[in-house]
Amino acid sequence: MKTIENISRMTTFVKMMKKEGRSIGLVPTMGCLHEGHMSLVRAAKKHTDVVVMSIFVNPIQFGPKEDFEKYPRDLKRDEELARDAGVDVIFYPSLKDMYPEGYATYVTIEALTKNLCGGSRPGHFSGVATVVTKLFNIVKPNIAYFGQKDMQQALMIKKMAADLNMDLEVKIMPTVRGKGGLAMSSRNMYLSETESKDAVILHQSLKQAESLIKGQERDAKKIIKTIEDMIKSKPTAKIDYVAIVDTKELRDVKTISGEIMIALAVFFGNTRLIDNITIAVK
Ligand code: PAF
Repeated sequence: MKTIENISRMTTFVKMMKKEGRSIGLVPTMGCLHEGHMSLVRAAKKHTDVVVMSIFVNPIQFGPKEDFEKYPRDLKRDEELARDAGVDVIFYPSLKDMYPEGYATYVTIEALTKNLCGGSRPGHFSGVATVVTKLFNIVKPNIAYFGQKDMQQALMIKKMAADLNMDLEVKIMPTVRGKGGLAMSSRNMYLSETESKDAVILHQSLKQAESLIKGQERDAKKIIKTIEDMIKSKPTAKIDYVAIVDTKELRDVKTISGEIMIALAVFFGNTRLIDNITIAVK
């Protein structure tokens, strides 16, 4: 496994791979790797010849009061995990290389980004779209992999790739869950023991909502109330949002029909976690 630390070397490597006719799979990450990232790598290894994992903590997707400075960074640990998972190249560009002085171009997607995390984190999705566009332009992947845990992000990137005629496929892979069903996230490591135990309520409440829908409940407000009550029973939890949206436009629905996503964001102490499930109703 190689670690490439600058854009021009990455470009040279990509040109070489393309010349040899080898397909490239990209797994974009901010490091602090976990089993969720590994599942993306495993998928990339199945579908493509060369797996590139980018590790870049992207400042422009963090709000001023968010955790950019303290976001966990441990390249040595990440390199070991990536090597074990079979990553071929870690792309680890510097901040200066990605955003040199005078940098002035940002990508904004008008659809899909206003509701859910777009409402709570202004500017976040433009920061993600900008860095992902840059990564796509540098690495030129045939397929790029994103996790369903960040479903709004993944759908937005799919839309961006289609709208801007980007010549690649965006694959969304299932959420990987740990103990008690807690969705894998780099931010789980911030949780205290009590917060970790309490956070399991996210998956439990989503499963409860699913069983209400299976039992023919169709009133979104009632389902949301059930989820909120369950979450509020945990002393360390503070709800940011709980929403039920259609999976095409990510707009709130009143009545459950077609394919919907139940999405939530909840603080446990200072740590904001997100999760979601999608359900198709006939
Ligand atoms: O999901 C993430 O880790 C980040 O948002 C991404 C896609 C790597 C862009 O910085």
